[in-house]
Amino acid sequence: MRTLISESEVREGVQRLASEITATYGDGPLTIVGVLTGSVVLLADMIRLLTMPLRVGVVQASSYRGATSRGPLVINSDLMPDIAQHDVVIVDDIFDTGNTLAELIELMQKLGPTSVRTAVLLRKTGQQEVAIKPDFVAFEIPNEFVVGYGLDYRDEYRNLPYVGALDPEDLRS
Ligand code: IMP
Ligand code: MG
Repeated sequence: MRTLISESEVREGVQRLASEITATYGDGPLTIVGVLTGSVVLLADMIRLLTMPLRVGVVQASSYRGATSRGPLVINSDLMPDIAQHDVVIVDDIFDTGNTLAELIELMQKLGPTSVRTAVLLRKTGQQEVAIKPDFVAFEIPNEFVVGYGLDYRDEYRNLPYVGALDPEDLRS
């Protein structure tokens, strides 16, 4: 595994995200909705850099089914807070094709929020399949399979404090 973004670079990236969110929402209030499971590390670090009145919730979206190929997207919003008339920022680990965030935005728009924006640690260059783009992005990365800082390969590596790229020969599908 090669280190793509070091622990200190990740920290600077998260600080940039928090600064941009603060510049956009000022004194808030703001509702942050983290996408399980990949956003948990970013969510925990980022919310501690935000000082406006903040609500934090989660939604679950999964499509990778443990490997690198896509299955259908499954969304479980049972744990999501009430977002009607709230400014919402959806937080995810990575914007790849964009299908996950596009579907989540569509779902949330139906619930009557004041606004919905999205924040991601990573955005893969050239992979986008949807019309929306993330509002807050810490790093643009090449089209490689990455792990760490919440991102997994077959549910492992989420605990790495940095972002690493797995070599193609390390990937089974
Ligand atoms: P999208 O719907 O194609 O944008 O994919 C978003 C989701 O795919 C993320 O929340 C991740 O769970 C997963 N994903 C995409 N690329 C990677 C990767 O390189 N490593 C690990 N997970 C990834
Ligand atoms: Mg994910």
